[in-house]
Amino acid sequence: MNRLKSLSLLAVTSAFAVAALAGCGGGNTANTSNSAATGNQTSQGGTGSEPTLVMATSADYKPYEYHVTTGGQDKIVGFDIDVANAIAKQLHFKMKVEDMDFNGLIGALQAHRADFVIAGMTPTAQREKAVDFSEIYYQATNEIVSKKGSPYTTMASLKGKSVAAQLGSIQEAAAKTIPGAQVISLNTIPTVVQDVLTNRADAAIIEGTVAKGYLASNPSLQANPIANTGPNGSAIAFPKGSPWVGKFNTAINTMKKDGELDQLIKKWFSGSNQ
Ligand code: ARG
Repeated sequence: MNRLKSLSLLAVTSAFAVAALAGCGGGNTANTSNSAATGNQTSQGGTGSEPTLVMATSADYKPYEYHVTTGGQDKIVGFDIDVANAIAKQLHFKMKVEDMDFNGLIGALQAHRADFVIAGMTPTAQREKAVDFSEIYYQATNEIVSKKGSPYTTMASLKGKSVAAQLGSIQEAAAKTIPGAQVISLNTIPTVVQDVLTNRADAAIIEGTVAKGYLASNPSLQANPIANTGPNGSAIAFPKGSPWVGKFNTAINTMKKDGELDQLIKKWFSGSNQ
């Protein structure tokens, strides 16, 4: 399984290159070969230079993280990227971004191929067993996306139907609770939406803020909110025991207090989500 879509590391805050961070194979040696991924190289690390942290994400999730091409150059942008950059600025670290399938993110943290994950990821009890989470920095809710005019607008209406969702997501878990439903688990959100558009799936379960963009560009789609049955917000994930969790929480709280987080929420979600 090719988990990494791209082995190239994208510099976000700096063009500074870090050797051997590609994270391909050799995961066991990450702690020694990849000091940036251990989290040991904190800002008071003694070298005088800022450490570089590897941030992993799944850039299929507009407006949280997605690819844009500007001036012929591929870039990952979005709410999460801005949040991560703001934290990096406060905590004085540089950041390298690795893009991979959502379903591979927890494994990347466990193998220390990444120092943190910011991917609109919800801190569920099951994930808490494998990784540590920061505080929640954004709350959201899920929606059922289906073809306009179809009867698929509630969870009850999806009994025995085909329901698409992103592999490894809480939306996939929600789909699996629908009695008799055939759950179609796909690696990326664009393919989830595509399955609804092409009638391969009767409906999809997608976060409302993400569905919004697809509805705007696909007038044949409709979306209906569903009740929260579990945790729904986004938090930053770290390898278990990472020394960065407390520092990130301090930075997030500063951003909550000084209005920077609200500003970013307004910028990326037009303030109409909450
Ligand atoms: N919030 C959901 C979860 O944690 C979906 C996140 C999907 N993120 C992404 N970058 N595709 O399961």
